[in-house]
Amino acid sequence: MKTYFRILSFAKPYNRFLPQYIIVTSLAVVFGVMNFTLLKPLFDVIFDQADATQIARYSEEPQFAMNIDYLIQYFNYQLYAITDKYDKTGALFFVCAIIIVTVFLSNLFRYMSSMIMAKVRARVVKNIRVAVFDHVSKMHLGFFSGKRKGDIMSRITNDVQEVEFSVVGSLKVLFKEPATLISYFVVLFAMSFKLTLFTLVLFPVSGFIISEVVKRLKRNAIETQESLGRIVNILDESLSGIRVIKAFNARRYILQKFDDESKKYAGLVVSMARKNELASPVSELLGVSVVAIILLFGGTMVLNNESNLQASEFITYIIIFSQVLIPAKAISSAFSNLQRGLASGVRIFDILDTQTAIKNNNAPKEKNSFDSIIQINNVSFSYDKKPVLKNINLAVEKGKTVALVGPSGGGKSTLADLIPRFYDPTHGEIAIDGINIKDIELYSLRGLFGIVTQESILFNDTIFNNIAFGIKNAREQDVIKAAQIANAHNFIIQSPNGYQTVIGERGTKLSGGQRQRLTIARAVLKNPPILILDEATSALDSESEKLVQEAITKLMQNRTSIVIAHRLSTIQHADKILVIDQGTIKEEGNHDELIQKKGIYTKLSEMQAM
Ligand SMILES: Nc1ncnc2c1ncn2[C@@H]1O[C@H](COP(=O)(O)OP(=O)(O)O)[C@@H](O)[C@H]1O
Ligand SMILES: [Mg+2]
Repeated sequence: MKTYFRILSFAKPYNRFLPQYIIVTSLAVVFGVMNFTLLKPLFDVIFDQADATQIARYSEEPQFAMNIDYLIQYFNYQLYAITDKYDKTGALFFVCAIIIVTVFLSNLFRYMSSMIMAKVRARVVKNIRVAVFDHVSKMHLGFFSGKRKGDIMSRITNDVQEVEFSVVGSLKVLFKEPATLISYFVVLFAMSFKLTLFTLVLFPVSGFIISEVVKRLKRNAIETQESLGRIVNILDESLSGIRVIKAFNARRYILQKFDDESKKYAGLVVSMARKNELASPVSELLGVSVVAIILLFGGTMVLNNESNLQASEFITYIIIFSQVLIPAKAISSAFSNLQRGLASGVRIFDILDTQTAIKNNNAPKEKNSFDSIIQINNVSFSYDKKPVLKNINLAVEKGKTVALVGPSGGGKSTLADLIPRFYDPTHGEIAIDGINIKDIELYSLRGLFGIVTQESILFNDTIFNNIAFGIKNAREQDVIKAAQIANAHNFIIQSPNGYQTVIGERGTKLSGGQRQRLTIARAVLKNPPILILDEATSALDSESEKLVQEAITKLMQNRTSIVIAHRLSTIQHADKILVIDQGTIKEEGNHDELIQKKGIYTKLSEMQAM
């Protein structure tokens, strides 16, 4: 129930639609009930059921009053006046015309009420989707390695859709169907108190059976959505890795994985349908049985002249009663759908309730410049249990270049990730100009860094927008200048639409070197005081490496840089070189000093010389 109201809270503000909705829906219900009620006087006239006292009663125009009695009296007065004047055929026309008018009105209002709901539904879904995306994009990096991407994607797409169809769909049921049901019962009670009382006893019994049938749907629904998440995950991995899949002839392997998961999903869907689809036949069977029982009970009453129920009234009663089943069924099927939607709602709120581990403290300090020094004091870090960095101490002075080298898996990238606070150290602290980075406002902290990694992350957008990424109203001449510094301008103007060329998903229409030069141009445009380069040229062939290295050298001018390098030749001139292995600093000094030590660095550089 809590989940339900939380989902509905995304429809706020309610006062924009709720009053309108209630009015329109009430009108739809009233006219809907009215057109069946009109059958009784029709039967009376056609089958000559009315007795003399009745006819006498309806021959005078009634006194005006604001109640149902007056309406009935007035209607009958008109009806009998017409019967007098134009005989029964005239009355038939009259009643049929009124039925058409009421049906028209009830459907008109029903349409209006559905439209209001459609708008609410669209709004709720949009709000939830944006809220989840907003929240996910704020999450710390660890969240994304812990949770699979497919799972997150499936929650934002499928689960939100599930919520849309079931929970928001049930809104309709929440007011309209109960109102319809109650109105029908009011009419039924007015017609025959005893008979209706009898049916009311039957109702809860059948309701209980139906609710038992749909009870255990929830657990199933969660499993189904999880399975769908795994399918999306396989799909996402396969589509982005299609080249590798083909190269390694791994198509069958992947297909098998996809097939297995799809089988599991199909099984879950069937087992869910088994219960879900049972709801409708069971409720129909129960419903018709109830009608039959009433037919029996009421029919006996009429036959034995036990009640004041006339034949016309009894037929109308049965017709109206059979209509009662429609809202009752709608309510029961809404309840069974609701279980699925709520299971999805739980999964969505599960994400929304996960707090990001990296956030501002209570009074964060803005920091828009880097003035003197970055200090890493006694920092240790582990992703889970296994320590990745142990007691690292390091100072990077303004304007200097510090290089991190060492065998892969040693912890270099992890150390670089700690400085812009992608992760927080498990022990120790990092300070910029003497301020602990945990006290610096996150946006301004990240603003101090330009980061270029081995993978060039680009988006399916124009070259211009990829370079100007994150900068509002970037000026064209600045973007072009950045591209020139990054050795990218020449290939950009040779592209079909120049700076407005769309580069495809993840930049697939460009070569590795071109992609990397765009990410460098992006860093140049941002013009940050501190640069972090994590193996920026490792993925490139030597031809494009030269162009990129040139671009990087220009980018590093007049900046403080932390460079992680695979090829030692590129960092020979660094002010300080750290050899990191197994999470600790093993050697430290400039190139010449380290060569003389004849340690790991010497070994690495000898290996590369060969
Ligand atoms: N997101 C992560 N979750 C868990 N372990 C990780 C993660 N990233 C890296 N590691 C582990 O941390 C260690 C250091 O990795 P990394 O910093 O990338 O090394 P390097 O950049 O020196 O090659 C490795 O053992 C690696 O398996
Ligand atoms: Mg690395």
